[in-house]
Amino acid sequence: MKKISNPCNGLKGIFPVPGDKSVSHRALMLGALARGRTEIRGLLEGEDVLRTADAMRALGAFVEKRADGVWIVEGRPLREPAGPLYMGNAGTGTRLLAGLVSSYPFKTTFTGDPSLSSRPMKRITEPLSLNGAVFETTGGKLPMTVFGTGAAKPIRYRLPVASAQVKSAILLAGLNADGETVVEEPVPCRDHTERMLKAFGADIRRDGESIVLRGKAVLTGQSVDVPADISSAAFPIVAALITPDSELVLKNVGLNPLRAGILDVLAEMGARIVYENRREISGEPVADLRVFSSELRGVSVPADKAPSMIDEYPILAVAAAFAKGESRFDGLAELRVKESDRFEAILRGLSANGAAVEADGDSLIIKGCEKKPCGGGVIRAKLDHRIAMSFMVMGTASQNGVVIDDDESVSTSFPDFAALMNERGANIHDYRD
Ligand code: S3P
Repeated sequence: MKKISNPCNGLKGIFPVPGDKSVSHRALMLGALARGRTEIRGLLEGEDVLRTADAMRALGAFVEKRADGVWIVEGRPLREPAGPLYMGNAGTGTRLLAGLVSSYPFKTTFTGDPSLSSRPMKRITEPLSLNGAVFETTGGKLPMTVFGTGAAKPIRYRLPVASAQVKSAILLAGLNADGETVVEEPVPCRDHTERMLKAFGADIRRDGESIVLRGKAVLTGQSVDVPADISSAAFPIVAALITPDSELVLKNVGLNPLRAGILDVLAEMGARIVYENRREISGEPVADLRVFSSELRGVSVPADKAPSMIDEYPILAVAAAFAKGESRFDGLAELRVKESDRFEAILRGLSANGAAVEADGDSLIIKGCEKKPCGGGVIRAKLDHRIAMSFMVMGTASQNGVVIDDDESVSTSFPDFAALMNERGANIHDYRD
């Protein structure tokens, strides 16, 4: 559906943020590998995670949502799925599962929507082939068939890109290997897999740059509380910061230091965010955030910050367009291989709405506006949820509103985003031209 996000007079209230997508995928997968029962509270019920739930069922696990909203997963011996696993838009689900099934003696085929089918898989097939599995791809992309091995070898692999998906795929494959799997990580990236594997009883440790996992692991079902997703929270957070007369409260937001880089950068820009009730749930740090409208300043974000906020550049770029002074974001090559080419999408989207933006190699330079960016542009979201939501947020604080050509993708990570925004004061509606 085409949407228009029109300017509004401030956002107020408590904003419920859905569960963390990365943690939700992993909880379903580890629950399916574990002995006994896993209970998951706060699972993200977005399309991406539901595809992973379906995939785990197709692989033989018991996965059901109880009437009280808790998801129950029971591990059973995994078996070859009866047909291809359709993974929708879910890159994380696909890459992690490809690692997981690579150490089982059966064949699994993965398919996806046009966005997922255009994303590179060589980054996982290359390391995973070292354990004895065989991969057949379509020019390095989906459809992809994994011919798993019943005798997975432990591997040692140095990550050429800072990718938690690649790291996690190798670790999940290593669970069944006989010996120690070692992933060397020159630049640390999100460690949800390591934290959760430890909680489920795996023998996993960090040794300098390396993560070392002992194979033939016996996992035991756990109770998992999923924190609210910082990557989703970033949209209402920036919306409140750039829209005058706003105050939003977001509860239970995950603050894993390898995920929450956006909050450090927003603080440097002058964002007024108060942290309340800091605590830990299921091995992940969380807090409630109170966010106030703020006068933002331009900021320089170095390349080594990118892994801790890789999904947040589109919404950060919107914040930068409303800030005073110039912003520069370095080291953004990975943005080109996300759900869409987000580097191009930011350039095009900001320009179409009257903000000054330019590219310099893999860097983006955004000149903040003295007054509100005018808006009035049309965004081609290209099946990319984070592009669609970023520009809906831009619309709320622009002069003339922003049109998004299709909001269908938003349900992959943030069901009911527009309705939740509207209930707190935003003005996002169906658009017919
Ligand atoms: C994710 C890792 C990141 C991120 C994605 C989720 C994960 O991808 O962009 O949305 O859950 O491991 P890369 O590891 O490819 O950077």
